[in-house]
Amino acid sequence: MKRETRLVHSGRDPEKHFGIVNPPVYRASTVLFPTMDEFQRRRERQYPGFSYGIQGTPTTFALADALAELSGAHRAVVTSSGLSAIAQALIAFLRQGDHILVADTVYAPTRGFCTGVLARFGVETTFYDPRAGAAIGQLMRPTTKVVYAESPGSQTFEIQDVPAIARAAHERGAIVMFDNTWATPLNFRAFDHGVDVEVQAATKYLGGHSDLMMGVIAARDEGLFRTVKDGVGEFGDCVAPDLCYTVLRGLRTLAVRMHHHERSALEVAQWLARRPEVSRVLHPALPDDPGHALWRRDFLGSSSLFGVQLATDSPHAVAALMDGLQLFKIGASFGGFESLILPAKPERAVRPRTEPGTLLRLHVGLEAVEDLVVDLDAGFARLNAALGTPAAASGVGGRGAVPG
Ligand SMILES: Cc1ncc(COP(=O)(O)O)c(C=O)c1O
Repeated sequence: MKRETRLVHSGRDPEKHFGIVNPPVYRASTVLFPTMDEFQRRRERQYPGFSYGIQGTPTTFALADALAELSGAHRAVVTSSGLSAIAQALIAFLRQGDHILVADTVYAPTRGFCTGVLARFGVETTFYDPRAGAAIGQLMRPTTKVVYAESPGSQTFEIQDVPAIARAAHERGAIVMFDNTWATPLNFRAFDHGVDVEVQAATKYLGGHSDLMMGVIAARDEGLFRTVKDGVGEFGDCVAPDLCYTVLRGLRTLAVRMHHHERSALEVAQWLARRPEVSRVLHPALPDDPGHALWRRDFLGSSSLFGVQLATDSPHAVAALMDGLQLFKIGASFGGFESLILPAKPERAVRPRTEPGTLLRLHVGLEAVEDLVVDLDAGFARLNAALGTPAAASGVGGRGAVPG
């Protein structure tokens, strides 16, 4: 079955619930046992099963099963946020004295977790160039336990050669962890490319409505899964079943939304690439993007999120553009129905950014592209007015003006 079809059916069984289409929300702290003997043997029910609310209820398991199926993983667990998934996945596999290789382009709080918590507990991090590919082998030490990748890179959208990285990591006994939030498992099959543990912020596309926080950790096999599950258990992290229900609901429309996000974001990106105010659009699905060949080889599609490098570095002109936008709202995150924009500030250790101008990050939501382009066009008019430069030809004028 195609993944779109599976998304509609996974994690539910109407026959078990009076024919009701969606699984019920089971809320629990206490789980009762009929006998003392069964209570004493409750730990045996941990994989899979539940004996106390912290391990989840049938609603949690319905979501975890659907997420594992979506990813092509052995099993998955959900956590209280994307960042908590990243932190708990990392710490589950690391001990004092270990070394970890982390892409220089990871989501900033992932970097902060490595240089903060992991450093404090005696785990050393080396940030690597996201273009490293097989050359990552040269950075590996006998103590390297995890190679952590995120592709495209956060805010700067570099594509990594994940299969080459995975081969080098596995040859030297390290596992590969991958943040698949941007593409989702619909558009990047992490486990087919050598990833061992996949993390995602379900906060973004899986939820899809900007109304919840959740993370997912999916593992390739039972051994990896147990390490993850025990690690999450040690922290006592868990997710309310009501949120699990909401994400299950989000999953049903994920493929449709992703398809729309992808097409609209590409149209907006192509329109932006033709603007004189824009020096570069950072989107791996654009043919002239440096990561395009790798993206074509490994990804099945793109998503809503990309970068735009404006030629100007005038903060007040950029503020004039952004502050007056009607449809692109200023705010963090992505994956919701509404378009977002923010000024990007990537922190890079291996190759500090020297590109002049201002980097913005856009999330293209589910609005009509024509309206989004009108909104951005008015923003460029304000930017030009603030810079005192003559207005550029808008290129706005119906859908025909937007390449499709
Ligand atoms: C790539 C990526 N991973 C993880 C996260 C963290 O997710 P959350 O906001 O749910 O903690 C984010 C959030 O922006 C992200 O962009």
